Amino acid sequence: MSSLEFPDGGFCPTINSFSVVDLARRYGTPTYVYDAAVIRRQVERLRQFEVIRYAQKANSNLAVLDLLRRLGGVVDAVSAGELLRARAAGYALASEPPEVVYTADIFDREALELVVKEGTHVNCGSPDMLDQYGERCPGQGVTLRINPGFGHGHSQKTNTGGPQSKHGIWHTQLEECVQRGQKWGLRVTGLHMHIGSGTDFEHLSQVCEAMVQAARRIGPSIHSISAGGGLPTPYRNSDQPLDIARYHQLWDGARRQLESEWGHPVRLELEPGRYPVAEAGYLITEIRAVKRMGDNLFYLVDAGFNNLARPILYGAYHPLAVALANPQTQQATQPVIVGGPLCESGDIFTQTDGGTVVHRQLPAANVGDYLVIGCAGAYGFVMGSNYNSKPLAAEVLLDRGSDHLVRPRQGSASLFASESIPG
Ligand SMILES: Cc1ncc(COP(=O)(O)O)c(C=O)c1O
Repeated sequence: MSSLEFPDGGFCPTINSFSVVDLARRYGTPTYVYDAAVIRRQVERLRQFEVIRYAQKANSNLAVLDLLRRLGGVVDAVSAGELLRARAAGYALASEPPEVVYTADIFDREALELVVKEGTHVNCGSPDMLDQYGERCPGQGVTLRINPGFGHGHSQKTNTGGPQSKHGIWHTQLEECVQRGQKWGLRVTGLHMHIGSGTDFEHLSQVCEAMVQAARRIGPSIHSISAGGGLPTPYRNSDQPLDIARYHQLWDGARRQLESEWGHPVRLELEPGRYPVAEAGYLITEIRAVKRMGDNLFYLVDAGFNNLARPILYGAYHPLAVALANPQTQQATQPVIVGGPLCESGDIFTQTDGGTVVHRQLPAANVGDYLVIGCAGAYGFVMGSNYNSKPLAAEVLLDRGSDHLVRPRQGSASLFASESIPG
């Protein structure tokens, strides 16, 4: 089921023929459910790209990483923890193209030790990383993440380019970075830009042009370019699905231009996070209170921004639907505000950027019915927290007719098991 097929504002009795009520009763709530068939479909749609490097920050459950690896994907890691996850999911350490790349704006000490020990390819987003890495691993090839001086994004918090972004190496510092790397014998073998143009192809062609210009300044030592991620997901029925052929055509054109100038192959990588997994994920919650506040009707569910932070962070829209515990009771829809259990007034799933609370048309429902949050497979569980001492949700993978618990709900005792009272 894609977001376009998700019954936003209606009833969601099943997910890929699994009954929502059965899943909720078997695994409890809140539970994330991922549909492997949707992940496969999304990866197939990207096949034109030579290398699909999954940005695991979107969803790093080992079962998801393993599935993407079996589908031929390689992976990006932004921390020591993600490097260890990649290894645990079976990604090879020494390989060409590298199956694991560390992309970040800093090395924390743990990550630096790990990339040194494991020989991980690094993509540097700050000049200082070149010295820190070069001192420990002289003579290696590295990739540079470039901030071309302009950006794009649905909110200031997701804009990844321009002078207000902390990401990447500022475009005018390219030559300086090459020289800084040369001090340690580092060769710049690839360039990376994660700007995220969404469906704005005019903007995307500017990004491609900026990539070509930057690559020319470095010269033929470049053997790979990465288009980053930022491929949009249609969260609303009115959102246009991405024209992937056109997206590929623009990047492929940039790559071919460099190949013809240099006479050697240039690998084109794509680094999607959201695209393969967003539409595959559902957060099943139980409605625990239905109450009126003046003219407003609230459904309060047992998941909050401790489970899915995108609405409170960016005012992100997620499609919502109801699964009735007793399907005989189907009734008309009504305007509802959906909130969670946390002791924060911003713990609302129906809000716009800036925190304005809005209504959604949803079927009449009672305590004990279920609310399904759609398109929740990316930046959902991974941004979870233990705020209000709430355990992390369970995660379930649906694959070829079977349901697999791929992470049990966190036990409440583990919330404070490592804490101690001095004295
Ligand atoms: C360097 C980099 N690559 C890829 C991604 C994935 O972006 P998206 O999930 O929008 O595809 C991100 C997201 O923050 C990123 O920072």
